[in-house]
Amino acid sequence: MRKGIILYQSKYGATKQYALWLQEKTGFDCQEIRHTSFHQIKDYEILILGGGIYASGIAGFNFLKKYIAHLPQQNILVFAVGASPYDPTAFDQLYQRHFKDRLEGIPCFYCRGAWHEDRMTWVDRHLCQLLKRMVAKKDPADYEPWEKALMEAMGRSCDWTDPAYLQPILNYLEEHSHEKISL
Ligand SMILES: Cc1cc2nc3c(=O)[nH]c(=O)nc-3n(C[C@H](O)[C@H](O)[C@H](O)COP(=O)(O)O)c2cc1C
Repeated sequence: MRKGIILYQSKYGATKQYALWLQEKTGFDCQEIRHTSFHQIKDYEILILGGGIYASGIAGFNFLKKYIAHLPQQNILVFAVGASPYDPTAFDQLYQRHFKDRLEGIPCFYCRGAWHEDRMTWVDRHLCQLLKRMVAKKDPADYEPWEKALMEAMGRSCDWTDPAYLQPILNYLEEHSHEKISL
């Protein structure tokens, strides 16, 4: 049995940055989900999956959904990376939407990412501009945290990545793996 692996899916680099920081801290293996097969992960004790949040979906999550039935022995945890500041209600909604059935109870953590319009694909940039136009019609008092962040970040380049967001994950690993890993 090998110790742990961090799998990530990142379009614009923030999730990858968190995955690499985690790798540095834990010594776990680390690789992109799109280059990963089930065969490569089945023998790890701990599986950490990180994905960027795009229109409330968590990138790479389908990988977990696909293989969860075959990963019962593993300690699995997820971290999601979004532009929004952490908001417990919004995060709870994200959790309820994604962590159903066999996925229920899997711990999920939040890390704040980045916003670089200049790096976005044409489709993403236009999607965000469309979203902005829709959000602009609302009363700012009714903005969701993610909508507020979108309105503030549009047209700017922002990087909120901070290794401090990983501390709850490191604490969780330490609490739950006892002698299995030393951080
Ligand atoms: C098309 C699009 C949709 C997004 N939707 C959300 C969202 O629903 N919630 C959020 O917090 N951030 C959202 N973001 C911001 C990304 O989550 C943020 O840029 C994050 O850093 C992406 O991770 P990555 O840098 O690893 O790709 C969106 C970004 C794009 C381009």
